[in-house]
Amino acid sequence: MFLKRCLCFLTILGSLYAYGGRFQFASYYGDHMVLQKAPERAVLWGYGPDDAEVTVFLSGGPVTNNAPAVSVAAGIWRVTLVPMEAGGPYNVTAVLQNNHSITLTDVLFGDVWLCGGQSNMAFTTSQVFNASEELALASKFPQVRIFMAALEQSDTELTDLAGVEVPWSVPTAKLLGGGDFKHYSAVCWMFGRHLYKALKYPIGLVTSCWGGTPVEAWSSPRALQHCDLDRINGFPMPYTPSMYLSVWTNSLLWNAMIHPLLNMTIKGAIWYQGEANTDYNQKKYSCSFPSMIDDWRMAFHQSSGGQTAPDFPFGFVQVSTYRKASLSEGFPNIRWHQTADYGFAPNLRMKNTFMAVAMDLGDEMSPFGSIHPRDKQDVAYRLSLGARAVAYGEEGVSFQGPFPSRVLVNDQYINVTYDQRVSVTQSKDIFQICCSVVKVPCDSLSLWVPAPIMQWGLNAIQVSSNYCSLNHVAGLRYAWRDWPCDFKACPVYSADGVLPAPPFTLNRWPDKR
Ligand SMILES: *[C@@H]1O[C@H](CO)[C@@H](O)[C@H](O)[C@H]1NC(C)=O
Ligand SMILES: *[C@@H]1O[C@H](CO)[C@@H](O)[C@H](O)[C@H]1NC(C)=O
Ligand SMILES: *[C@@H]1O[C@H](CO)[C@@H](O)[C@H](O)[C@H]1NC(C)=O
Ligand SMILES: *[C@@H]1O[C@H](CO)[C@@H](O)[C@H](O)[C@H]1NC(C)=O
Ligand SMILES: *[C@@H]1O[C@H](CO)[C@@H](O)[C@H](O)[C@H]1NC(C)=O
Repeated sequence: MFLKRCLCFLTILGSLYAYGGRFQFASYYGDHMVLQKAPERAVLWGYGPDDAEVTVFLSGGPVTNNAPAVSVAAGIWRVTLVPMEAGGPYNVTAVLQNNHSITLTDVLFGDVWLCGGQSNMAFTTSQVFNASEELALASKFPQVRIFMAALEQSDTELTDLAGVEVPWSVPTAKLLGGGDFKHYSAVCWMFGRHLYKALKYPIGLVTSCWGGTPVEAWSSPRALQHCDLDRINGFPMPYTPSMYLSVWTNSLLWNAMIHPLLNMTIKGAIWYQGEANTDYNQKKYSCSFPSMIDDWRMAFHQSSGGQTAPDFPFGFVQVSTYRKASLSEGFPNIRWHQTADYGFAPNLRMKNTFMAVAMDLGDEMSPFGSIHPRDKQDVAYRLSLGARAVAYGEEGVSFQGPFPSRVLVNDQYINVTYDQRVSVTQSKDIFQICCSVVKVPCDSLSLWVPAPIMQWGLNAIQVSSNYCSLNHVAGLRYAWRDWPCDFKACPVYSADGVLPAPPFTLNRWPDKR
């Protein structure tokens, strides 16, 4: 609490710098930080008196990097370093008029990942299964550095963060387990840890997330306009335990918790959100989510002066489960819309993305409510597989569960052929058929009947159409329930049993409207 107030105070001073004030770095540059490594170039900025000259140089590592001097304008200076190979530690010193200097110590170069979303991203390392083992690992990964923005909201786009929850730090058990939903994100930290193991160079994690928040709060007015969501505004949230605010408006968190970060160079982002949209603008999510990704990419690229890639990799978690007996289609619909209605990622609409399926990680007994499953280890691991394959182009890394490549309706049964080998267990109702006498696309109002699994081969599953005449089969869907299967016991996985098949819904008759 004190930390937060203190930093807020400094930031208020920040707006006075234009009038000859203090010389300092922006709020999210600090000792122990990770700056983006080559081929991108790191951007640094801060405050100083107008018209003064600022020079930034690195010391301590194998390379000395002097960026050309820049002038302070409107109270702000900004430099772009030359590309730096991964490594360190360096000291980063900014000098004002050859006179006054400020230094960031123990700075590493590596890949910087932004971690965003709602409470399942905020879920801390002390809340997960086997928390004590996980916390004890903190000291083993001193090259994975963490930072977290404070919970702040704003009606206008802020230049800098209004507060910092965790300043750049070498991870410790205390920081990773700093109070339920406070710090530090288990998914973000474990993702970073997996990346470090694969890449063997520093990883910087920047968390900016808030429980109970819909995608609209994290989207700029531009992105919302793209989906005709800009005129709908202000909403009470579905889940409102005390840690959540109960009313939001559009762009509130984009303004305060994302916009300030745009000028920092990043490698990519991961995202765990969607629950708050299961009953808020749910049908729009297949537009609003990809649109937010496009907009973040454009904005980070532009504001970093072209350093952050215009199509930076974006990974996300497909929402897990909530109510075991629920017949509501909020969760299945959001899972589908998270993929822009393709069922998998990346896809034509969502290029350079990757998805971690989590519907098989339900946790009915979670002390934090069943909407907060405690197994974040598998979530982070699955995300890291996607990052290795999509963001880093590592060959031979499977990151997608089986998805149908062909569905054949023949005279006795329906044959679902998958794009890879499958590992199958029997189920009487995980597949469902849409049964319709008219040849139109199916929806939630159609009659869906169970299609028991009859038999399976290496990469195909045959399901029965006993409950529907084959002529009337108009669609097929899989795992279309809030809570489709028990823990790690969905009927279809990759052959090695690691990656669950994502849910799908397919129409036999295309939409002719
Ligand atoms: C960085 O700065 C700290 C504090 O001023 C100093 O103790 C340290 O020796 C410096 N390290 C390098 C690598 O220059
Ligand atoms: C250096 O700082 C002092 C006060 O701290 C100031 O009087 C002086 O003008 C500064 N010199 C330059 C070259 O900016
Ligand atoms: C961030 O970048 C944008 C675009 O280059 C620029 O307009 C803005 O002033 C920058 N903000 C800071 C604090 O440097
Ligand atoms: C927790 O630890 C047990 C025993 O090592 C292990 O079997 C289990 O998979 C772990 N759970 C998670 C979610 O990692
Ligand atoms: C259905 O799938 C099986 C594999 O399980 C395959 O052997 C068979 O040829 C398929 N039938 C049709 C009609 O495609």
